Amino acid sequence: LREEGLAEIKKASDEQKLNEVRVQLVGKKGELTKILHSMKEISPENRREVGQKVNELRDLFNSQLDETKSAIVKALIAKKMEEERVDVTLPGRRSAVGGKHPIYEILDDLEAYFIGMGYQVVQGPEIETDHYVFEMMNLPKDHPARDMQATFYIDPENLLRSQTSGDQARVLEKHDFSKGPLKMVGPGKVYRRDDDDATHSHQFMQMEGLVIDKHVTMGDLKGTLELTAKHIFGQDRKTRLRPSYFPFTEPSVEMDVSCFNCDGKGCAICKYTGWIEVLGAGMVHPNVLENAGVDSTVYGGFAFGLGLDRFAILKYGIDDIRDFYTNDVRFLEQFRKEE
Ligand code: PHE
Repeated sequence: LREEGLAEIKKASDEQKLNEVRVQLVGKKGELTKILHSMKEISPENRREVGQKVNELRDLFNSQLDETKSAIVKALIAKKMEEERVDVTLPGRRSAVGGKHPIYEILDDLEAYFIGMGYQVVQGPEIETDHYVFEMMNLPKDHPARDMQATFYIDPENLLRSQTSGDQARVLEKHDFSKGPLKMVGPGKVYRRDDDDATHSHQFMQMEGLVIDKHVTMGDLKGTLELTAKHIFGQDRKTRLRPSYFPFTEPSVEMDVSCFNCDGKGCAICKYTGWIEVLGAGMVHPNVLENAGVDSTVYGGFAFGLGLDRFAILKYGIDDIRDFYTNDVRFLEQFRKEE
């Protein structure tokens, strides 16, 4: 019985089997109990010896059972640990992050560039008032130049701004000239009632610029714009100013840069002129200063408004402005920078 019992214990491979063996060997109806129950049939001289043997055997079985049990449990735990092990050397899965939109590449670049030159960055509301977008900018209600920008009106006083120029009036009203000159850029979205096509979008981005101080000249404007164009388009680009008209600047100009494609020699992209128009600007009209309570006999300066979409189109060679706003990832992926 001893050998058999020990063999049975050894054979048990899991806890359930082991329990069965335990019941069979030392349980209430087990082999050993049976022997104890039959003690009365054993002669009194032998009883003591048999009793002792049975007890010894029971102790042996119990200790073997316990040992086997703990071995089984240990193995189980080891197995579980192995299965659930985390391999910390596996390379992590990268989560998909978005890339920067090409327009924001230019916007962030220009913002940092102007901040470096001491400009503050302001942001006016996209739903603006007729008052700031037009009236304050020397465009009274009956001014024919209002037709230059087909405007989305919400009601007679509120509109989706058709230009960021209203930001000029907002900062002019607030600026304390005793603390120094005013230098600001105001980037943001604008809206116009245009039919969308490859070069027109009813929504696009502008960056307004304004510098007001005591002795600001057209030369300062020219220098600023030239440096800015070279910063974005490269040092080799030439620039030129052409006379233009805006109600809020006098004189008004538009700036062209030499064509990237033909280097000014003339090609289809620049319509054989050698030049590509990139922005509007001018010397701030005295009425704009006076409307905002700034003495135009003392202060003056320049303003510019550049189209960020236009900059991006030219810089990246994009042939359809609508690609900026339709969020096709195949288009946007092209501008993703390597991480
Ligand atoms: N606001 C003008 C436009 O949208 C651009 C501009 C800004 C021109 C500032 C002159 C000065 O066309």
